[in-house]
Amino acid sequence: MHKGHKENRGYFITFEGADGCGKTTQIGLLAEYLNKKNIENILTREPGGSDLGVHLRKILLHYEAPVSNVAETFLYLADRAQHIEYKIKPALEAGKIVLCDRHTDSTLAYQGYGREQDLDKIKYLNDIATAGVKPDLTIVFDIDSEIAQKRLGGEKDRLEAEGLEFHKKLRFGYLDIAKKDPKRVKVIDANQSIERVFEDTLKVIEEFLNI
Ligand code: TMP
Repeated sequence: MHKGHKENRGYFITFEGADGCGKTTQIGLLAEYLNKKNIENILTREPGGSDLGVHLRKILLHYEAPVSNVAETFLYLADRAQHIEYKIKPALEAGKIVLCDRHTDSTLAYQGYGREQDLDKIKYLNDIATAGVKPDLTIVFDIDSEIAQKRLGGEKDRLEAEGLEFHKKLRFGYLDIAKKDPKRVKVIDANQSIERVFEDTLKVIEEFLNI
């Protein structure tokens, strides 16, 4: 398995990208693939990966009155802190692979690059929320913003409804995050078909896990 890794601890793999990039389909395909190979894994997501998080997700995506940028950030962080403590950390300690649909880079991309809040402050707050647990590997699904908007279709949640300009900021943010941390963050071209994107995803995963 991967070099420089604490023995007996599982691997923490996060999937990231702007709305409409297809990461949720891809992470589902990956979980199926690992299950077939009898590689123990859990599939989870943020927001909403813990019991408390299920409630926070409803507020975050569907609350209808205005939500301040700071309040929004803290709600995502609360979801994350609970998720790390009660689900992610125990699974990693049990030696499982944790596949997580969105994590810290989403807060950097959306609340940082998207909402234009200070990136260093968000990193600091992310560190508090995760108690220092960090993804071993992150895959960013990069998609053209116009194509993503079309994929999203009619019914949109609070964040999805932000529109094209916001989406472009997210795309820029994710590519910037990847540029600054190329060892951990791999970018995949998500403009291709589901099958081609999954081939690229598997290449990254197989190389990383050495399977
Ligand atoms: P999902 O629909 O991909 O599960 O994500 C829910 C929405 O929440 C999505 O629009 C991205 C947004 N989000 C943030 O703005 N900040 C965060 O920290 C996370 C985890 C998600």
